[in-house]
Amino acid sequence: MSQEESSWNFSKDCRPAGAFEPITDQPIIREQLREIIRLGTMAPSGRNNQPWRFVTIVAPCGPPQGSSDPQGNTIYPNRSLAPQQDFGELSRVAAGNALAPGFRTTLQKLVQLTRYSHIIEKAAACIIVFLDKTAMYHEVKDHQSMGACLQNLLLAAHGLGLGAVWLGEILKSAKEVRELCGLSNDMELVAVVALGHPAGKGGKADRRPVEEVLLKEL
Ligand SMILES: Cc1cc2nc3c(=O)[nH]c(=O)nc-3n(C[C@H](O)[C@H](O)[C@H](O)COP(=O)(O)O)c2cc1C
Repeated sequence: MSQEESSWNFSKDCRPAGAFEPITDQPIIREQLREIIRLGTMAPSGRNNQPWRFVTIVAPCGPPQGSSDPQGNTIYPNRSLAPQQDFGELSRVAAGNALAPGFRTTLQKLVQLTRYSHIIEKAAACIIVFLDKTAMYHEVKDHQSMGACLQNLLLAAHGLGLGAVWLGEILKSAKEVRELCGLSNDMELVAVVALGHPAGKGGKADRRPVEEVLLKEL
């Protein structure tokens, strides 16, 4: 296949959309998240031990502008339900059928566990990424595998036209996030990936020039 025929061009597309602000209020459906995770798991791992595990959360698209939960907290003010669109599972979320009671609380708690709450609040979905400590064989190499998986998740999201942000700051609340997800000590939080439909191209941070990072050409 020629480069023209390929829909994915590494030299052009290797940088996934970073900060996805502003984003639209279009939801992300669970099938998209599963596909992103499937592609994430295509990452290499030492001994092919595939130590990654995931928890997904979709933001409800139901609450109209400025609506409140029973405690009076405003949630997802930027999200609205467009009835003409088929949102698949999300339309059932909007109808209150698909998610266990307390899912709003889960999202609200997650928001409180990072100073990047504004990113999670705006996100249409989050993928919480864990390292299964029982699958580990080498501390450094397993974390390297997780980094490869994370980058695959970002690229997969990019390939689906989504913006994704790798949130690491939330690691300071690793225990709380793990408990929020109802997982055992065996699961080590690695990152949260916040996803949304970008409204535009968004800004991208500068990179050091190759001349600066290429130390030697031996
Ligand atoms: C390990 C790691 C942790 C990160 N943590 C955060 C974070 O907590 N909040 C955030 O907004 N971005 C976070 N990022 C995204 C970086 O800030 C971002 O990749 C970098 O500034 C370059 O921007 P770009 O990816 O948009 O080009 C993280 C990235 C990595 C790899």
